[in-house]
Amino acid sequence: MLKPVEKGYVPLLPRDGLQNEATVVATAAKIALVEALADAGGTRIEVGAFVSPKWVPQMADTAEVFAGLTRKSGVRYSALVPNLKGLERARDCGVTEVAVFAAASETFSKKNINQTIDESLATYGDVAREAHAAGINVRAYLSTCFGCPFEGDVPVERVSGLTARLLDMGVFEVAVSDTIGIAHPGQVRSVLDVLRARFRPDQLALHFHDTRGTALANVLAALEYQIHTFDSSPGGLGGCPYAPGATGNLATEDLLYMLDGLGIETGIDIAKVTAASLAIEPAIGHALPSRYVTAVRSRAGSRPTRA
Ligand code: HMG
Ligand code: MG
Repeated sequence: MLKPVEKGYVPLLPRDGLQNEATVVATAAKIALVEALADAGGTRIEVGAFVSPKWVPQMADTAEVFAGLTRKSGVRYSALVPNLKGLERARDCGVTEVAVFAAASETFSKKNINQTIDESLATYGDVAREAHAAGINVRAYLSTCFGCPFEGDVPVERVSGLTARLLDMGVFEVAVSDTIGIAHPGQVRSVLDVLRARFRPDQLALHFHDTRGTALANVLAALEYQIHTFDSSPGGLGGCPYAPGATGNLATEDLLYMLDGLGIETGIDIAKVTAASLAIEPAIGHALPSRYVTAVRSRAGSRPTRA
C-alpha cells in the first residue's frame, strides 16, 4: 500500500528537450517557453547547457537565453555544466544553480563527455568546489542507472557507489537517470531497495525518459519509496544526443495529471504548461508526444457535438 507523499517536486527541463530536437529553436522561442513555465508555477527550470557548441549546437545560445530572460523571484533557473569552463560561462550569466552529469557506464561517459567515470568525478569535484565557493548550488545527474545503450546492464552497486561519491561533493541531490527509457517498475523497485537503504529520499530525484512508455508506472513505483522529485520536460520534448534511440523525458503534463490524481500537490498549473507546450510546437516542427497534450490538442480540433 502506497504511503502518502503529500508534496511533489517537478523540475522542468526544457534543456533536455531542446538539446535533442533536429531543429535549432530560436532564442526568443526558448525564452518564451521558460517564462511560460515559470508563469505556470514551475519553481525549478533547467534552462540550457553550457557545453561545447561543437558537440551540442542546440544549446549554443544558452547565455543569450539567460540574458533575455525576465527572472521571476522564487524560481530556480539552472543549467548543465560539464567542466570549469562551463561553470565560468554560467557564472558570467548570473546563474545560481548548475548541474553536473556523470554516468554509471564507462562507454556512455566517454561518448557523452569524453572522460572516464573517474576523470569526470575529478572534474566535477573541482566544479562543485568552485561553484560552492561562488555561492552556486550544484545538482548531479547520474546517467545510465537502469541500463546503457552500449554496455547493457549496469550493476546497482555501482549506481549506489557513484551516488555516494557525488553526494560527498556536496551536490544537493542526485538525479538517478534512465537515459534510454529502459526501466520498468520491477527494476525501479530493485534499484530503490538498494539506494533507499543508503540515502534519504530528499537526496534523490528520478529522471525517466519515456521511450518504452513505462515512465509513469516507474514514478508510481518510486512513490512507494517516498521519492518526491521527478524530472520532466514540457510536452515530452527530449532525449540525449549521445544515447541512440533515447526519446523524450516523461512529459510534464502526464506526470502532473497522475500526481494530481493521487492528491500530490505540485503547485504547477497543468493548463498553463499545456499551453506552453502547444506554443513551442511550431518552432520544433512536430507534435509533442505527451498523451495529455495529445488529448487536449485533439479535443480542440474536434467537431462540435449536437446539443
Ligand atoms: P572535448 O572535445 O573532449 O573537450 O569535449 P576539450 O576540453 O578538449 O575542448 C574541446 C573544445 O570545446 C575546445 O574548443 C574547448 O574550449 C571547448 P576549441 O579549442 O576546439 O575551439 N569547450 C567548451 N566550449 C564551451 N563550453 C564548455 C566547453 N568545454 C570545452 N563548457 C566536453 C568535452 C565535455 C566539453 C564535450 O564533450 C561536451 O560539451 N559534451 C556535452 C555533451 C552533452 O551536452 N550531452 C547531453 C547532456 S547529458 C544528458 O542529456 C543526460 C541527462 O539528461 C540525464 C540522462 O538522461 O541520463 C542529464
Ligand atoms: Mg535526460
